Amino acid sequence: MKDVISVVRPSAVKLLRIIFDYLSRIAKERNVDTILELIADLGRDVVAADRCTVWLIDERKNILWTRVAHGVDRIEIPRNKGIAGVVAESGEPLIINDPYSDPRFDKEVDKKTGYRTYGIIALPISDSKGKMIGVVQVLNSRTPLKKFTNKDQQHLVLAASYAGNQLEAVLLQEEMDNTQREIIFTLAETCEMRSKETGNHVKRVAEFSRVLAGFLGMNQNDALVLKTASPLHDIGKIAIPDSILLKNGPLTDEEKIIMNSHTTLGWEMLKHSDRIIFKAAADIAIHHHEKWDGSGYPAGLRSEEISLYGRITAMADVFDALANTRVYKKAWEKERILKLFQEERGKHFDPSLIDIMLEHFDSFWNINIRLGDKNIVG
Ligand code: C2E
Ligand code: SIN
Ligand code: SIN
Ligand code: FE
Ligand code: FE
Repeated sequence: MKDVISVVRPSAVKLLRIIFDYLSRIAKERNVDTILELIADLGRDVVAADRCTVWLIDERKNILWTRVAHGVDRIEIPRNKGIAGVVAESGEPLIINDPYSDPRFDKEVDKKTGYRTYGIIALPISDSKGKMIGVVQVLNSRTPLKKFTNKDQQHLVLAASYAGNQLEAVLLQEEMDNTQREIIFTLAETCEMRSKETGNHVKRVAEFSRVLAGFLGMNQNDALVLKTASPLHDIGKIAIPDSILLKNGPLTDEEKIIMNSHTTLGWEMLKHSDRIIFKAAADIAIHHHEKWDGSGYPAGLRSEEISLYGRITAMADVFDALANTRVYKKAWEKERILKLFQEERGKHFDPSLIDIMLEHFDSFWNINIRLGDKNIVG
């Protein structure tokens, strides 16, 4: 059992300042994990508790989950388990200062963590329509009497009611972001299905791009944009006739000209949008067959005239084309692919990106194994 250093309960003025401070930080935040953490800190400080956990209700899986468990990634509990579960069922706040004599308390948690719970307040967090979206639970009052009071509970209700609205907005935004990503993905997949790809191709290109961006140290937002947009690089192939797209042999010169127009066609399809993802996708569509030495198409751009997104996607695309069987060619051996990338350093590809890729070649190879076409059932 850990000693809890006692502190004073905040005064009314201090309390308002705590709430105001956190809320202004919460209002700026767009990331669900960070918001959960901020609300947990707010809850802890408002009632001078030792710990605070914010649980979110997942209706579909019928669970409560949180990421605010210091050091733990994500924990899930059945929706009806423990004190948080009781509150998630009833929607009524609970204050318990003697949990070990309360049958609703789940002693197993303490047993596992070695923590000793001697007081709990748990209450619902609701959205603007009054629908319950989560539960905030504080543990162990740090005041000298080590007891939570009704005043504590009122203060926590106040904090939770403000935080709930912001949480709702960010959860909705996250839902829309995910929906958007899925729509884009489905669009790319639909297009690839015509080329008799098995579907994992777009996932691999997205993953190669993301991993390369990661090794490059690209900031997370840009890396996410790249990951979402890169699967659309060949969207222009939707306008290429089957007789060319599906030809199981080398293309004639005329066919090649038509085939190569998938770059400009893709750009034409996407360029009208002002959306960040589609702008990036348009850029990738028109740049992904340019080469570092200027010998690519459609414009023969060279080196940094080619966008970074385009240079990265080009490598992901070729890697994937070589490592997998296409209608017009068999998959290559690992060593042969490695050799091609070494040889194309500074010719087809950006030399500094090649250096990074070669250094981590196995990471890329493993993506291909993990998301390989061979692993697809049916
Ligand atoms: P893709 O299948 O996605 O291939 C993307 C890129 O990977 C190719 O761009 C090329 O740079 C590289 N690549 C693919 N296979 C090989 C290979 O066997 N050897 C080498 N050295 N590189 C390879 P590229 O050449 O501009 O082709 C663009 C797209 O045109 C291809 O996309 C594919 O859809 C189509 N295509 C290219 N060649 C043929 C072909 O001989 N027959 C058919 N049916 N389609 C082809
Ligand atoms: C419970 O809600 O029953 C467990 C409380 C805890 O996290 O210790
Ligand atoms: C194909 O080459 O058959 C289409 C796959 C791709 O987008 O590279
Ligand atoms: Fe292409
Ligand atoms: Fe491609």
